Amino acid sequence: MCGIVGYIGDRKASDVLIKGLKRLEYRGYDSAGVALINGSLEVRKRKGKVDHLSKLIAKEGLSGNMGIGHTRWATHGEPNDVNSHPHVSENGKIAVVHNGIIENYSSLKKQLADRGKTFQSQTDTEVIALLLEEIYNSSFEISFEEAIQLTLKQIVGTYGLAIVHTDSPDKIYIARKGSPLLLGIGENEMFIASDASPIVEFTNKVIYLDDGEMATITRDNYKVKTIDDVVLTKEVHELAIGLEEIEKAGYPHFMLKEIFEQPRSIADCMRGRVVKETNSIQLGGIEDVMDELVNARRIVIAACGTSWHSGLVGEYLFEELAKLPVEVEYASEFRYRDPLIGRGDVLLVISQSGETADTLAAMREAKKRGALVLGICNVVGSTISRDTDAGVFTHAGPEIGVASTKAFTAQVVVLTMMALAVGKHKGILKDDDMRMYINELLMLPSKVEYILEHANEPIKKMASLFTYAPNFLYLGRSYNFPVALEGALKLKEISYIHAEGYPAAEMKHGPIALIDEMMPVVVIAATEHTNDKMISNIEEVKARKGRIIAIMNDANSDVKDISDFHISIPTTKDCFSPLLTVIPLQLLSYYIAVNRGCNVDQPRNLAKSVTVE
Ligand code: G6P
Repeated sequence: MCGIVGYIGDRKASDVLIKGLKRLEYRGYDSAGVALINGSLEVRKRKGKVDHLSKLIAKEGLSGNMGIGHTRWATHGEPNDVNSHPHVSENGKIAVVHNGIIENYSSLKKQLADRGKTFQSQTDTEVIALLLEEIYNSSFEISFEEAIQLTLKQIVGTYGLAIVHTDSPDKIYIARKGSPLLLGIGENEMFIASDASPIVEFTNKVIYLDDGEMATITRDNYKVKTIDDVVLTKEVHELAIGLEEIEKAGYPHFMLKEIFEQPRSIADCMRGRVVKETNSIQLGGIEDVMDELVNARRIVIAACGTSWHSGLVGEYLFEELAKLPVEVEYASEFRYRDPLIGRGDVLLVISQSGETADTLAAMREAKKRGALVLGICNVVGSTISRDTDAGVFTHAGPEIGVASTKAFTAQVVVLTMMALAVGKHKGILKDDDMRMYINELLMLPSKVEYILEHANEPIKKMASLFTYAPNFLYLGRSYNFPVALEGALKLKEISYIHAEGYPAAEMKHGPIALIDEMMPVVVIAATEHTNDKMISNIEEVKARKGRIIAIMNDANSDVKDISDFHISIPTTKDCFSPLLTVIPLQLLSYYIAVNRGCNVDQPRNLAKSVTVE
């Protein structure tokens, strides 16, 4: 949520910053701005997309070799030019960009106003610029770095911060608490960013800042300390992603590219882990805690959004394959209760970004209470991947489209592998069971490929018939109930059509009242053990003139005759079915959104990585 970029070196800073902001735009796209120091502080900012800012800079020109930039997802104050970052101190010498939320900003603002300071914006961030200026100017003996430390000690809340000051035109200062920041180390140049995407084309050497840390960066050096002034030696990591992974590769949208990448991302996720030769599942990341997992009293899964839906699939998987009790929680609710979790329990957090604020908070809460905390995460180096006791990466590759697609399927694959591994360890799954599951798992990439090849065009055509539907209902049972939720979420997120997902049997307890000839109902009828029940549900919808779009397979061919539209998918084990049934739903929402002229990759009001609570 919000993107930060910074550069110091020999290149034209505005070019690096604009390019970086475009790569970060998926994190927030309400407004964007940059601040460069070239003799004096030069700030340019604009409401709307990074393109608006880029045009402004092209028109007005902006020279200099160091600066910071920001793309915003508004929290305090509407998206307009003034509320855009960077925010500048009263004397025009300090510029600040900020991700996160300053919780005590109103009291700080009042105190500063009482001392005669004037604010230009409605943001919480401007408080930092003005407070920092006041502290720095209060004594000749305070260095700018010390002034930052003193300022941060007065701040309650979360921040990823980048700061420049005309008094030190060869330095960028950064600090982190709860909002990610990394430093890219080049040859006589340095980059900073809130995730690796702006850095990857320049260098693969990075340092991840941890909470409570700050750094002072020059073109050829960096110094990392804690906010309390303890000097630190940080490990330099190597980025594993390449530039091609964060570009569209000829697809009109990242989302479509990512949907079509799924045969590969699912295979990548299983590579070296689903081992046919040994008839086993090898998950190196959780090997050391396998005994604790196997003997756990229960697993609590905490996540948000799409990751929460994969968690729900995980509940069915662990209960069926590993006979382990599972509860699935919205991370935000888990942390605000007084959760009964402790030693003997496992908290499993699932997050594509590894930075979702509520999920991080749930993780910390469970750790505090003594539970073993495991993570399923896509972004290597993210906070969740570093702060959990152990975990498994999804290896889906960078996901740029705000609406999650390939991360969901990869999360479900990881959950499947974990459940199978635990089931095997517990002796619940015998060698023959494992053989059967492993064979089927390894066939999934080609089954997804088949769906993409055969269903894409029919879905595209069908989507045009539903472009203007005001509402949608999605129904599923068992493993496909979470898929119904996910299908509805996808449509809602990118097309702005109101959509709800329900367990099919719940329809008669409320949603059935909504059904008439205007209501498309997507029915996921592709799990063998619920097929008959789904047919009854379809009949109930039909009796009320609802229009049925069925996702079905040959094991349930009767559905074809009673549906208005159907998409056939290959058969698989019921427990793997979400990995196939979700694909047509992703495509359906994509094409409807495109038909409606929506910005598929950057839907209004949303952000990819939600780092505020
Ligand atoms: C945001 C994104 C969703 C995502 C959710 C959780 O709302 O728009 O696509 O599912 O955050 O994100 P995470 O990175 O924790 O999976």
